[in-house]
Amino acid sequence: MYRLARPFLFGFDAERAHGLGLASLETAYRTGMTPLLARKPTPFPTRAFGLTFPNPVGLAAGLDKNGAHIDALLALGFGFVEVGTVTPKAQPGNPGPRIFRLPEQRAIINRLGFNNEGVEALVANVARARRKLGLLGINIGKNKDTPNELAVSDYLYCLERVYPLADYVTVNISSPNTAGLRELQEEQALRRLVGALREAQERLGSKHGKRVPMLVKVAPDLSEDDISAAARVLADLQVDGVIATNTTVMRPGLQSHPLARETGGLSGAPLLEKSTAVLRMLRTRLPDEIPLIGVGGILSGADAVQKMAAGATLVQCYTGLIYRGPGLIGECNAAIRRRKEMPSRGNLPIVQ
Ligand SMILES: Cc1cc2nc3c(=O)[nH]c(=O)nc-3n(C[C@H](O)[C@H](O)[C@H](O)COP(=O)(O)O)c2cc1C
Repeated sequence: MYRLARPFLFGFDAERAHGLGLASLETAYRTGMTPLLARKPTPFPTRAFGLTFPNPVGLAAGLDKNGAHIDALLALGFGFVEVGTVTPKAQPGNPGPRIFRLPEQRAIINRLGFNNEGVEALVANVARARRKLGLLGINIGKNKDTPNELAVSDYLYCLERVYPLADYVTVNISSPNTAGLRELQEEQALRRLVGALREAQERLGSKHGKRVPMLVKVAPDLSEDDISAAARVLADLQVDGVIATNTTVMRPGLQSHPLARETGGLSGAPLLEKSTAVLRMLRTRLPDEIPLIGVGGILSGADAVQKMAAGATLVQCYTGLIYRGPGLIGECNAAIRRRKEMPSRGNLPIVQ
Protein backbone atom coordinates (compact mmCIF):
# COMPACT_ATOMS: atom_id res chain seq x y z
CA MET A 1 0.00 0.00 0.00
CA TYR A 2 2.75 2.47 0.99
CA ARG A 3 4.61 1.63 -2.22
CA LEU A 4 1.63 3.12 -4.07
CA ALA A 5 1.24 6.11 -1.75
CA ARG A 6 4.93 7.10 -1.65
CA PRO A 7 5.31 8.50 -5.22
CA PHE A 8 2.14 10.53 -4.63
CA LEU A 9 3.41 11.93 -1.31
CA PHE A 10 6.92 12.54 -2.69
CA GLY A 11 5.29 14.64 -5.43
CA PHE A 12 4.66 17.30 -2.81
CA ASP A 13 7.20 19.39 -0.96
CA ALA A 14 8.34 17.53 2.18
CA GLU A 15 6.35 19.51 4.73
CA ARG A 16 3.13 19.34 2.70
CA ALA A 17 3.63 15.58 2.31
CA HIS A 18 4.13 15.31 6.06
CA GLY A 19 0.74 16.97 6.69
CA LEU A 20 -0.98 14.88 4.01
CA GLY A 21 0.57 11.66 5.29
CA LEU A 22 -0.59 12.30 8.85
CA ALA A 23 -4.08 13.36 7.72
CA SER A 24 -4.43 10.17 5.60
CA LEU A 25 -3.20 8.06 8.47
CA GLU A 26 -5.75 9.63 10.80
CA THR A 27 -8.55 9.00 8.26
CA ALA A 28 -7.43 5.40 7.80
CA TYR A 29 -7.49 4.92 11.57
CA ARG A 30 -10.93 6.47 12.03
CA THR A 31 -12.44 4.39 9.25
CA GLY A 32 -10.89 1.15 10.46
CA MET A 33 -8.56 0.89 7.45
CA THR A 34 -5.22 0.83 9.29
CA PRO A 35 -4.83 -2.96 8.75
CA LEU A 36 -4.48 -2.15 5.03
CA LEU A 37 -1.40 -0.06 5.84
CA ALA A 38 0.42 -2.33 8.27
CA ARG A 39 0.22 -5.81 9.68
CA LYS A 40 0.19 -5.92 13.46
CA PRO A 41 3.53 -7.19 14.75
CA THR A 42 3.54 -10.25 16.99
CA PRO A 43 3.61 -8.97 20.59
CA PHE A 44 7.13 -8.97 22.00
CA PRO A 45 6.94 -7.51 25.51
CA THR A 46 10.13 -5.71 26.46
CA ARG A 47 10.92 -4.30 29.90
CA ALA A 48 12.74 -0.99 30.31
CA PHE A 49 12.66 1.88 32.82
CA GLY A 50 10.19 -0.13 34.93
CA LEU A 51 7.69 -0.21 32.04
CA THR A 52 6.58 -3.07 29.82
CA PHE A 53 6.53 -2.10 26.14
CA PRO A 54 4.31 -4.34 23.93
CA ASN A 55 7.19 -4.45 21.47
CA PRO A 56 10.59 -2.71 21.32
CA VAL A 57 10.04 -0.61 18.16
CA GLY A 58 8.90 2.98 18.67
CA LEU A 59 8.28 6.16 16.74
CA ALA A 60 10.93 8.84 17.36
CA ALA A 61 10.03 12.39 18.39
CA GLY A 62 9.24 15.08 15.85
CA LEU A 63 6.68 13.43 13.59
CA ASP A 64 3.71 14.12 15.87
CA LYS A 65 4.87 17.34 17.53
CA ASN A 66 1.50 18.13 19.14
CA GLY A 67 0.39 14.62 20.10
CA ALA A 68 -2.58 14.87 17.72
CA HIS A 69 -2.26 11.40 16.11
CA ILE A 70 -1.23 9.11 18.96
CA ASP A 71 -3.83 6.36 18.47
CA ALA A 72 -3.46 6.34 14.67
CA LEU A 73 0.32 5.96 15.02
CA LEU A 74 0.08 3.25 17.68
CA ALA A 75 -2.34 1.36 15.42
CA LEU A 76 0.48 1.01 12.87
CA GLY A 77 2.14 -1.43 15.27
CA PHE A 78 4.59 0.75 17.19
CA GLY A 79 5.18 -0.47 20.74
CA PHE A 80 5.48 3.18 21.78
CA VAL A 81 5.14 6.62 20.28
CA GLU A 82 7.14 9.65 21.38
CA VAL A 83 5.37 12.97 20.76
CA GLY A 84 6.87 16.48 20.82
CA THR A 85 9.23 18.20 21.10
CA VAL A 86 6.84 20.48 22.93
CA THR A 87 7.75 23.87 24.42
CA PRO A 88 5.92 25.93 27.08
CA LYS A 89 4.51 28.42 24.58
CA ALA A 90 3.40 27.78 21.01
CA GLN A 91 5.98 28.87 18.42
CA PRO A 92 6.08 28.81 14.61
CA GLY A 93 9.61 27.41 14.13
CA ASN A 94 11.95 28.53 11.35
CA PRO A 95 10.78 29.93 8.00
CA GLY A 96 10.28 27.41 5.17
CA PRO A 97 11.40 25.56 3.24
CA ARG A 98 12.76 23.70 6.24
CA ILE A 99 12.55 19.97 5.41
CA PHE A 100 14.57 18.53 2.53
CA ARG A 101 14.43 14.97 1.18
CA LEU A 102 17.55 13.24 -0.17
CA PRO A 103 15.85 10.15 -1.64
CA GLU A 104 18.96 8.50 -3.11
CA GLN A 105 20.64 8.67 0.28
CA ARG A 106 17.39 7.77 2.10
CA ALA A 107 17.97 10.82 4.26
CA ILE A 108 16.30 14.03 5.39
CA ILE A 109 17.72 17.39 6.41
CA ASN A 110 15.39 19.44 8.64
CA ARG A 111 15.59 22.76 10.39
CA LEU A 112 12.04 22.96 11.72
CA GLY A 113 13.10 24.60 15.00
CA PHE A 114 10.52 23.14 17.43
CA ASN A 115 7.41 24.33 15.62
CA ASN A 116 4.58 23.34 17.95
CA GLU A 117 1.30 24.51 19.46
CA GLY A 118 2.62 24.68 23.00
CA VAL A 119 2.33 22.34 25.97
CA GLU A 120 -1.31 23.16 26.81
CA ALA A 121 -2.47 22.09 23.34
CA LEU A 122 -0.40 18.90 23.57
CA VAL A 123 -1.80 18.07 27.01
CA ALA A 124 -5.36 18.50 25.69
CA ASN A 125 -4.61 16.19 22.73
CA VAL A 126 -2.98 13.56 24.93
CA ALA A 127 -5.90 13.64 27.36
CA ARG A 128 -8.23 12.76 24.44
CA ALA A 129 -6.14 9.81 23.21
CA ARG A 130 -7.19 6.25 24.10
CA ARG A 131 -3.64 4.84 24.14
CA LYS A 132 -4.76 1.23 24.24
CA LEU A 133 -2.11 -0.26 21.98
CA GLY A 134 1.21 1.02 23.30
CA LEU A 135 3.08 3.44 25.52
CA LEU A 136 3.51 7.19 25.19
CA GLY A 137 6.68 9.23 25.57
CA ILE A 138 6.47 13.03 25.71
CA ASN A 139 9.54 14.93 24.55
CA ILE A 140 10.07 18.38 26.09
CA GLY A 141 12.19 21.38 25.09
CA LYS A 142 12.57 25.10 25.53
CA ASN A 143 11.20 28.04 23.56
CA LYS A 144 13.49 29.74 21.06
CA ASP A 145 13.31 33.07 22.91
CA THR A 146 14.23 31.57 26.29
CA PRO A 147 17.95 32.11 26.94
CA ASN A 148 19.96 29.08 28.10
CA GLU A 149 20.35 30.61 31.60
CA LEU A 150 16.56 30.32 31.98
CA ALA A 151 16.16 27.03 30.09
CA VAL A 152 15.67 25.10 33.34
CA SER A 153 12.37 26.88 33.98
CA ASP A 154 11.03 25.97 30.50
CA TYR A 155 11.88 22.29 30.99
CA LEU A 156 10.47 22.31 34.54
CA TYR A 157 7.25 23.90 33.31
CA CYS A 158 6.81 21.28 30.57
CA LEU A 159 7.72 18.42 32.92
CA GLU A 160 5.07 19.49 35.42
CA ARG A 161 2.39 19.80 32.76
CA VAL A 162 3.05 16.49 31.00
CA TYR A 163 4.04 14.38 34.02
CA PRO A 164 0.56 13.08 34.92
CA LEU A 165 -0.11 11.98 31.32
CA ALA A 166 3.19 10.52 30.11
CA ASP A 167 4.46 6.95 30.35
CA TYR A 168 7.94 8.48 30.09
CA VAL A 169 9.33 11.96 29.51
CA THR A 170 12.31 12.79 27.27
CA VAL A 171 14.47 15.83 27.92
CA ASN A 172 15.60 17.03 24.51
CA ILE A 173 18.88 18.91 24.68
CA SER A 174 20.16 17.73 21.33
CA SER A 175 18.21 19.38 18.52
CA PRO A 176 20.56 21.35 16.26
CA ASN A 177 17.78 23.76 15.22
CA THR A 178 17.44 25.85 18.38
CA ALA A 179 20.49 28.07 18.80
CA GLY A 180 22.60 27.09 21.81
CA LEU A 181 20.39 24.15 22.85
CA ARG A 182 23.12 21.57 22.51
CA GLU A 183 25.35 23.55 24.89
CA LEU A 184 23.06 22.17 27.59
CA GLN A 185 24.87 18.84 27.06
CA GLU A 186 28.11 20.29 28.45
CA GLU A 187 29.01 18.83 31.83
CA GLN A 188 28.13 21.73 34.14
CA ALA A 189 25.01 22.85 32.29
CA LEU A 190 23.86 19.23 32.05
CA ARG A 191 24.33 18.66 35.78
CA ARG A 192 22.40 21.80 36.61
CA LEU A 193 19.52 21.09 34.22
CA VAL A 194 19.12 17.37 34.80
CA GLY A 195 19.72 17.81 38.55
CA ALA A 196 16.81 20.25 38.79
CA LEU A 197 14.61 18.01 36.66
CA ARG A 198 15.44 14.91 38.73
CA GLU A 199 14.41 16.75 41.90
CA ALA A 200 11.16 17.82 40.25
CA GLN A 201 10.59 14.25 39.05
CA GLU A 202 10.85 12.94 42.63
CA ARG A 203 8.52 15.68 43.88
CA LEU A 204 5.98 15.03 41.11
CA GLY A 205 6.21 11.30 41.80
CA SER A 206 5.01 11.83 45.38
CA LYS A 207 2.40 14.36 44.31
CA HIS A 208 0.81 12.15 41.64
CA GLY A 209 1.49 8.80 43.29
CA LYS A 210 3.28 7.45 40.20
CA ARG A 211 6.88 7.44 39.09
CA VAL A 212 7.29 8.55 35.49
CA PRO A 213 10.72 7.67 34.04
CA MET A 214 12.79 10.53 32.66
CA LEU A 215 15.16 10.02 29.71
CA VAL A 216 17.72 12.35 28.17
CA LYS A 217 18.18 12.51 24.38
CA VAL A 218 21.69 13.23 23.15
CA ALA A 219 23.28 14.38 19.90
CA PRO A 220 25.47 12.21 17.66
CA ASP A 221 28.01 15.03 17.32
CA LEU A 222 29.62 14.67 20.75
CA SER A 223 33.31 13.85 21.02
CA GLU A 224 34.39 10.78 22.97
CA ASP A 225 35.35 13.03 25.90
CA ASP A 226 31.96 14.78 25.78
CA ILE A 227 30.23 11.40 25.82
CA SER A 228 32.29 10.23 28.81
CA ALA A 229 31.51 13.45 30.71
CA ALA A 230 27.80 13.30 29.86
CA ALA A 231 27.63 9.62 30.85
CA ARG A 232 29.25 10.45 34.22
CA VAL A 233 26.66 13.14 34.94
CA LEU A 234 23.70 11.03 33.79
CA ALA A 235 24.88 8.06 35.85
CA ASP A 236 25.49 10.25 38.94
CA LEU A 237 22.04 11.77 38.67
CA GLN A 238 20.49 8.34 37.99
CA VAL A 239 18.39 9.24 34.97
CA ASP A 240 16.09 6.40 33.93
CA GLY A 241 17.36 6.10 30.38
CA VAL A 242 19.19 7.73 27.49
CA ILE A 243 18.12 8.11 23.86
CA ALA A 244 20.94 8.02 21.31
CA THR A 245 20.70 9.95 19.04
CA ASN A 246 19.16 13.06 17.55
CA THR A 247 20.08 14.29 14.03
CA THR A 248 23.63 15.28 13.03
CA VAL A 249 24.97 18.63 11.82
CA MET A 250 27.71 16.72 9.95
CA ARG A 251 27.15 15.47 6.40
CA PRO A 252 28.72 11.99 6.40
CA GLY A 253 29.21 10.80 2.80
CA LEU A 254 27.18 13.71 1.41
CA GLN A 255 29.80 16.44 0.91
CA SER A 256 29.10 16.82 -2.81
CA HIS A 257 25.30 16.59 -2.55
CA PRO A 258 23.58 19.80 -3.70
CA LEU A 259 21.48 19.88 -0.51
CA ALA A 260 24.39 19.12 1.85
CA ARG A 261 24.87 22.82 2.53
CA GLU A 262 21.33 23.34 3.77
CA THR A 263 21.45 24.15 7.47
CA GLY A 264 19.80 21.60 9.73
CA GLY A 265 19.96 18.12 11.20
CA LEU A 266 20.57 15.14 8.96
CA SER A 267 18.67 11.91 9.63
CA GLY A 268 18.26 8.58 7.88
CA ALA A 269 20.75 6.10 6.40
CA PRO A 270 23.87 8.35 6.50
CA LEU A 271 23.36 8.78 10.28
CA LEU A 272 23.29 5.07 11.13
CA GLU A 273 26.99 4.48 11.78
CA LYS A 274 27.57 7.67 13.73
CA SER A 275 24.54 7.30 15.99
CA THR A 276 25.28 3.62 16.62
CA ALA A 277 28.87 4.50 17.57
CA VAL A 278 27.57 6.98 20.17
CA LEU A 279 25.09 4.38 21.44
CA ARG A 280 27.91 1.83 21.82
CA MET A 281 30.11 4.32 23.68
CA LEU A 282 27.27 5.21 26.04
CA ARG A 283 26.57 1.53 26.71
CA THR A 284 30.13 0.94 27.85
CA ARG A 285 30.12 4.08 30.02
CA LEU A 286 26.70 3.81 31.71
CA PRO A 287 25.68 1.28 34.35
CA ASP A 288 23.43 -1.58 33.16
CA GLU A 289 20.54 -0.13 35.18
CA ILE A 290 20.27 2.71 32.67
CA PRO A 291 18.76 1.31 29.46
CA LEU A 292 19.28 2.92 26.07
CA ILE A 293 16.96 3.65 23.17
CA GLY A 294 18.81 3.39 19.85
CA VAL A 295 17.66 5.78 17.12
CA GLY A 296 19.26 7.09 13.96
CA GLY A 297 19.31 5.62 10.47
CA ILE A 298 17.17 2.52 10.95
CA LEU A 299 15.89 1.66 7.48
CA SER A 300 15.72 -2.14 7.79
CA GLY A 301 15.35 -4.95 10.29
CA ALA A 302 19.12 -5.50 10.10
CA ASP A 303 19.72 -1.87 11.16
CA ALA A 304 17.45 -2.36 14.18
CA VAL A 305 19.38 -5.50 15.12
CA GLN A 306 22.62 -3.51 14.82
CA LYS A 307 21.28 -1.07 17.42
CA MET A 308 20.35 -3.93 19.77
CA ALA A 309 23.81 -5.46 19.33
CA ALA A 310 25.34 -2.07 20.23
CA GLY A 311 23.41 -2.06 23.51
CA ALA A 312 19.92 -0.71 22.83
CA THR A 313 16.98 -2.16 24.75
CA LEU A 314 14.46 -0.38 22.53
CA VAL A 315 14.73 1.29 19.12
CA GLN A 316 12.95 4.18 17.41
CA CYS A 317 12.70 5.35 13.83
CA TYR A 318 11.46 8.39 11.94
CA THR A 319 13.15 8.80 8.53
CA GLY A 320 12.88 5.06 7.84
CA LEU A 321 9.11 5.37 8.13
CA ILE A 322 9.11 8.05 5.42
CA TYR A 323 11.18 5.95 2.97
CA ARG A 324 9.98 2.44 3.85
CA GLY A 325 6.47 3.02 5.19
CA PRO A 326 4.82 1.23 8.12
CA GLY A 327 6.07 -2.18 6.90
CA LEU A 328 9.38 -1.22 8.52
CA ILE A 329 7.85 -1.59 11.99
CA GLY A 330 6.98 -5.27 11.49
CA GLU A 331 10.32 -5.91 9.76
CA CYS A 332 12.28 -4.47 12.71
CA ASN A 333 10.21 -6.41 15.21
CA ALA A 334 10.64 -9.70 13.36
CA ALA A 335 14.41 -9.18 13.03
CA ILE A 336 14.82 -8.30 16.73
CA ARG A 337 12.71 -11.28 17.76
CA ARG A 338 14.74 -13.67 15.57
CA ARG A 339 17.96 -12.39 17.11
CA LYS A 340 16.75 -12.76 20.68
CA GLU A 341 15.38 -16.22 20.05
CA MET A 342 18.77 -17.42 18.88
CA PRO A 343 19.93 -19.43 21.90
CA SER A 344 23.71 -19.20 21.64
CA ARG A 345 24.30 -15.44 21.40
CA GLY A 346 26.74 -14.21 23.97
CA ASN A 347 26.09 -10.50 23.65
CA LEU A 348 22.37 -10.31 24.20
CA PRO A 349 21.24 -6.78 25.05
CA ILE A 350 20.40 -6.06 28.64
CA VAL A 351 16.64 -6.08 29.14
CA GLN A 352 15.70 -4.63 32.52
C1 LIG B 1 11.56 16.28 10.33
C2 LIG B 1 12.16 15.85 11.64
C3 LIG B 1 11.78 16.48 12.82
C4 LIG B 1 12.33 16.07 14.04
N1 LIG B 1 11.92 16.69 15.20
C5 LIG B 1 12.41 16.27 16.39
C6 LIG B 1 11.95 16.83 17.60
O1 LIG B 1 11.07 17.71 17.62
N2 LIG B 1 12.51 16.39 18.77
C7 LIG B 1 13.46 15.41 18.80
O2 LIG B 1 13.90 15.02 19.88
N3 LIG B 1 13.90 14.84 17.66
C8 LIG B 1 13.39 15.24 16.47
N4 LIG B 1 13.82 14.65 15.31
C9 LIG B 1 14.88 13.61 15.40
C10 LIG B 1 14.32 12.20 15.40
O3 LIG B 1 13.52 11.99 16.54
C11 LIG B 1 15.48 11.18 15.38
O4 LIG B 1 16.23 11.31 16.58
C12 LIG B 1 16.41 11.37 14.19
O5 LIG B 1 15.70 11.75 13.03
C13 LIG B 1 17.22 10.11 13.87
O6 LIG B 1 16.39 9.05 13.56
P1 LIG B 1 16.01 8.60 12.04
O7 LIG B 1 17.29 8.50 11.29
O8 LIG B 1 15.27 7.31 12.20
O9 LIG B 1 15.13 9.69 11.50
C14 LIG B 1 13.29 15.03 14.09
C15 LIG B 1 13.66 14.41 12.89
C16 LIG B 1 13.11 14.79 11.68
C17 LIG B 1 13.53 14.09 10.42
